[in-house]
Amino acid sequence: MNKNLISLVIITLFASNAAIAASYQAGDIVVRAGATMIDPDSDKSGIDLASDPSGLTLTVDDNTQLGLNFMYFYDSNWAIEVLAATPFTHDVNIQMGDEEASLGEVTHLPPTVSAIYYIDTGTNFMPYVGAGLNYTIFFDEEFTSDFKDAGFSNLELDGSFGLSVQVGADYQLNDQWHLNASARYIDIDTEATFDVEGDSVGKSDVDVDPMVFSLMLGYKF
Ligand code: NI
Repeated sequence: MNKNLISLVIITLFASNAAIAASYQAGDIVVRAGATMIDPDSDKSGIDLASDPSGLTLTVDDNTQLGLNFMYFYDSNWAIEVLAATPFTHDVNIQMGDEEASLGEVTHLPPTVSAIYYIDTGTNFMPYVGAGLNYTIFFDEEFTSDFKDAGFSNLELDGSFGLSVQVGADYQLNDQWHLNASARYIDIDTEATFDVEGDSVGKSDVDVDPMVFSLMLGYKF
């Protein structure tokens, strides 16, 4: 799934004017499933070795997983949303000048709880804005075999607690089913540490700060 596809879906939703009298009500529960892509900020993060800048930098690739949303409506405008997903695994690359190599991979879960406000449109196109909190936990951090053979070990990324903001829209297909597209920014900052030949000398402050794009099918209970 890419950004162009999501843009296309959002434009299609905007262009549609069929007036199904759709609205959410207090007590409604919505469950959604679909594709969620995490696209980290492409800025490079510098790596310190023994507390000194090494000239090496890190980047993190994007990854798409099964995304899940659970929502509870307090009234027709306000809802609380939980974003869950199967674990994301990102390739981590290391750069020296123009040279790039695959350094390893990290897996994480980024559960996010958001307050959502739906804007009244009186149509089956229902846009919303949201803000919330994210906790990202990293696990299974691992160097590639080349770096392991070169003496790199013990890669660890700290958990991150940060804010999230999003925009999205539902397109009601009927009373129960809808299509959903959303884009959110999550502030995820972590410190990566690692050992070289048994000494804990490597450190990098990584601003992952991803855009998170979801395309989902939803059901209202
Ligand atoms: Ni940040």
